[in-house]
Amino acid sequence: MANVAVLGCIWGDEAKAKIVDFLAAEADIVIRYQGGNNAGHTIVSNGKKYIFHLIPAGILYPDKICFLGNGVVIDLFALLAEMENLSDQGIDFHNRFFIDPRAGIVLPIHRQLDEAAENDSPAIKIGTTKRGIGPCYSDLTARVGIRFGDLFHLQILRQRLKRLYNYHKLSDYEIDDLAEALYLSAKPLAECRQQISYFLNRHQDKRILFEGAQGALLDLSFGTYPFVTSSHTTIGGITTGSGFSLRRLGRVVGVYKSYFTRVGEGPFPTELKNELGDIIREHGNEYGSTTGRPRRCGWFDAVAARYSAMLNDIDEIALTLLDVLSGLDSIRICTGYRMNETIITDFPDNSEILNQVTPIYEELKGWKDDITQISSYQALPVAAREYIGRLEELLDRKITIISVGPDREQTIVRQK
Ligand code: IMP
Repeated sequence: MANVAVLGCIWGDEAKAKIVDFLAAEADIVIRYQGGNNAGHTIVSNGKKYIFHLIPAGILYPDKICFLGNGVVIDLFALLAEMENLSDQGIDFHNRFFIDPRAGIVLPIHRQLDEAAENDSPAIKIGTTKRGIGPCYSDLTARVGIRFGDLFHLQILRQRLKRLYNYHKLSDYEIDDLAEALYLSAKPLAECRQQISYFLNRHQDKRILFEGAQGALLDLSFGTYPFVTSSHTTIGGITTGSGFSLRRLGRVVGVYKSYFTRVGEGPFPTELKNELGDIIREHGNEYGSTTGRPRRCGWFDAVAARYSAMLNDIDEIALTLLDVLSGLDSIRICTGYRMNETIITDFPDNSEILNQVTPIYEELKGWKDDITQISSYQALPVAAREYIGRLEELLDRKITIISVGPDREQTIVRQK
């Protein structure tokens, strides 16, 4: 297997974890390189449910090495809780779970700042997960952040916290207690410290899988700014978040949902604000796995999808949750936007414009059959195959993996 990237190509929640879990079978190392515990997913394996926020899904395989790269931001207490949870379910971390010392640390103050920005200023409400992700990345960018490696030196940690609190003009009365809590809590993770760039360079014979978090349309720069997350969710995040050269990447799998969803604020041209949207939400159990918020649902938007396929230079597509569309009389695909008299086929760079466009739709026949037990492409209903074929035409990429249910087995694989 070549080194592979699995990237979310819409606004996150594409059910990437299932695809990662599926492809990780052939990898040696699985890496998360951006984002933090704003991500969340559940994997069903052998009828057992596992919940992940930060730890790469590859940890479910006992022989895989898992890494959090330098581009990740870590809420230490949330990470320890997640590890404990998974350990209780029989997962062993010893000697196979590593964290780059440069990874950022999300502090309680970051969560407070996130919460305050969301609650106090409705004019710029982003609908964040309130996990402190944005404030943590801004502190790192402002060069006052705390990094994983700092947690193992009490004196340095105190100084860095002081600097950060001064920067925010906050009273530093709690710093000593916080420094001590972080220092003591981090101790069991001392053996996990490992510079990812050197590690990957020394293990060039190993097969790597990069597990993207969130999705391309939430990318800090390329996404629907300002309604985005604060990391680079597109392919470049791999290099800056792990020190791995993209020249060594052999395969890029873009993950798309069979319809679109979004949680949080921001433009969503094909959103269905009607009963049909509610039906899709209920069929797909479209509630955020981190915050429990109902996800906004809508039709597949080929303008946005072509854009994220281009940005990520994807080789092939994994199409998820196809079973959720079963039972609909017809299915729509957005092939362009109309703005006044103009037809737009390039994804706009401005959220204000995206808010004003009207989608141009193509309508296809739906299918009634339950497809959750189907294991080959040929056995899918004709209408489902026509839908897949049309998406392939519009995106100019082959759909090689089709997911028809949450279990590992409910996956149809086609030759590229
Ligand atoms: P933040 O990442 O918590 O700052 O949130 C910024 C935006 O990204 C909000 O719209 C969130 O709902 C969205 N977001 C962050 N992480 C995820 C995710 O894993 N799935 C879907 N949306 C996400």
